[in-house]
Amino acid sequence: MIKAHSINVPLSEFDDVTYSRPQQTDFEQLSECAMSRRDFLEKSIAFGASAFVMGSTALSPIAAHAGNKLEFDPVSANSLDTVTVPKGYSWNIVARWGDPLWSKGPEFDHETRGTGASQELAVGDNNDGMAFFHNQGKNIFAVNNEYVNRNIIYGNRKTESPENADDVRKGKAGHGVSVFELTQVNNKWEIVKDSPFNRRITADTPMELTGPARGHDLLKTEADPEGIQSIGTWNNCGNGRTPWGTYLTCEENFNGYFSSSDDSYEPTPEMKRYGVGKKDRGYAWSMVDQRFDISKHPNESNRVGYVVEIDPMDSTSTPKKRTALGRFKHENAELVVAKSGQVVVYMGDDERGEFLYKYISSGTFKVGGDNSSLLEKGTLYVAKFADGMRGDWLELTPQTTGMKSQAEICIHTRIAASAVGATTMDRPEWVAAHPHKAEVYCALTNNKNRGKKPNKGGDTTPVGGPNSRKANNYGQIVRWRPDNGDHLSKTFEWDLFVIAGNPTVHSDVYGGSKNITTENMFNSPDGLGFDSKGLLWIQTDGKYSNKDDFAGMGNNQMLVGDPASGEIKRFMVGPKECEITGITWSPDYKTVFVGIQHPGEKGNSHFPEGGKSTPRSSVIAISRDDGTPIG
Ligand code: FEO
Ligand code: CA
Ligand code: CA
Ligand code: CA
Repeated sequence: MIKAHSINVPLSEFDDVTYSRPQQTDFEQLSECAMSRRDFLEKSIAFGASAFVMGSTALSPIAAHAGNKLEFDPVSANSLDTVTVPKGYSWNIVARWGDPLWSKGPEFDHETRGTGASQELAVGDNNDGMAFFHNQGKNIFAVNNEYVNRNIIYGNRKTESPENADDVRKGKAGHGVSVFELTQVNNKWEIVKDSPFNRRITADTPMELTGPARGHDLLKTEADPEGIQSIGTWNNCGNGRTPWGTYLTCEENFNGYFSSSDDSYEPTPEMKRYGVGKKDRGYAWSMVDQRFDISKHPNESNRVGYVVEIDPMDSTSTPKKRTALGRFKHENAELVVAKSGQVVVYMGDDERGEFLYKYISSGTFKVGGDNSSLLEKGTLYVAKFADGMRGDWLELTPQTTGMKSQAEICIHTRIAASAVGATTMDRPEWVAAHPHKAEVYCALTNNKNRGKKPNKGGDTTPVGGPNSRKANNYGQIVRWRPDNGDHLSKTFEWDLFVIAGNPTVHSDVYGGSKNITTENMFNSPDGLGFDSKGLLWIQTDGKYSNKDDFAGMGNNQMLVGDPASGEIKRFMVGPKECEITGITWSPDYKTVFVGIQHPGEKGNSHFPEGGKSTPRSSVIAISRDDGTPIG
């Protein structure tokens, strides 16, 4: 029997628990915590250092807004074990963890929860970022499978852990990306089994390393002495898509899969910066596959932590890891085409006190042309927010960072960003760009360490700027406008679109910004996506206790915000113990696809099948009953 490590903490806690950092006490802290909510809202007009919010700055042309674009009756917070949508809307299941993509694959077995072989033929677990492609008359859906919940996928085992090689095979195949064709039957989207487009990309799929780090010594391993390949992708969190029709999948908490068989092995400082250490999160991959043993193969962990580009229209294509976009815990990759035709990709590094990045391609996008090197050659920047609601993009080069080469910067990107003095953020999650103007939003989900502990690189996390609350347990959404309306600009102005909070519990800054009310309150914004009308869809991955600081918020949810007026309304509530993550639309905008991730992660859901069934992460489709577009 395989002996798995017994670490069973939430993903966001794993690094803090496993590699603890000292409390930080010796830097100046602003005193927002003591400020009343009313002061907070009023000072938002004038107080640049803590900055803010809707209607308070030049960024918010409230008066120009005419009519209410949020035309639905908001949904009340609830703790039900189902999906709740507004009156006049309906939802149904499109794809669940374990649904077979080929007719040779068995239907999901609620008792065994599948085998290695069945999982390799089926939709992966914990669906996250997703994109719908309409091409060559086909509807192709790509969706990330971030991780597996050990207590669920191994719920057939008393230990709720992988116990043999096939359990590990099942776990590895539960990760990665699922690509499948969809068709509409009686107005419902369904998987087309056996479509030539169907594909599972897993922790064992061969990939190519591209960009500045390709061939660098740090990427060379026993299996690949040239350092140009990599096997597999895992912990695929948010996504992106390109105008040339490819899918971008983003490797986030990749570190939790590596461990050491040699207890005396000392991880390097660079490994520690990324949380790569001697213990994994209990996946036990190194027990079956030695490349996950850092004492034997220390460079393997340098081959993950990237944005990976996949051609969803060719199931035989080799995915490409894009080292030019940097290596960190990538949340998503929001791509826009600048006026010059160059491609700009905005990206968050989701860990407490880590950074916000952008990449600018050297070449320009050409419709119908060869765009295959646009994510291979370019310049990487990191954000520094300043007082006065201004900010700068700092270029990461050997000159600015003191590092030896661009290759090294692309592998140890966090270290490069620390060297130039980037702003430590409250966990940057998804970035979304407004479809009609140069304005970009990022969900800063929460940060209990703000004003208390440095990041893993030792950078302090002072309270201020867009990270305006000590021990921030609710999160906020920051937005910025590049100067001259040009995504190539190295300067920008910023404000906060919303500061989440609980006005029924707190009368200070923890009550939230003025567009937070008892009717729409939520915590921990995470997924973001703009619809065609320019409304911002906000998904949450927060506390669902519905008690104390989180009283009245119910389960995780999805809201819709109007960037012009600041109004936010709750559109949907998910089932128990889930997170809502991933959003994409059908080309006619009559369907919005949304991800229900890890329902019942603590054992208290039977979504979606009810009864005593095993809970299953699912992609759902939501449409309007009158058949008109939904966004
Ligand atoms: Fe996978 Fe930062 O969420
Ligand atoms: Ca997320
Ligand atoms: Ca999250
Ligand atoms: Ca998640």
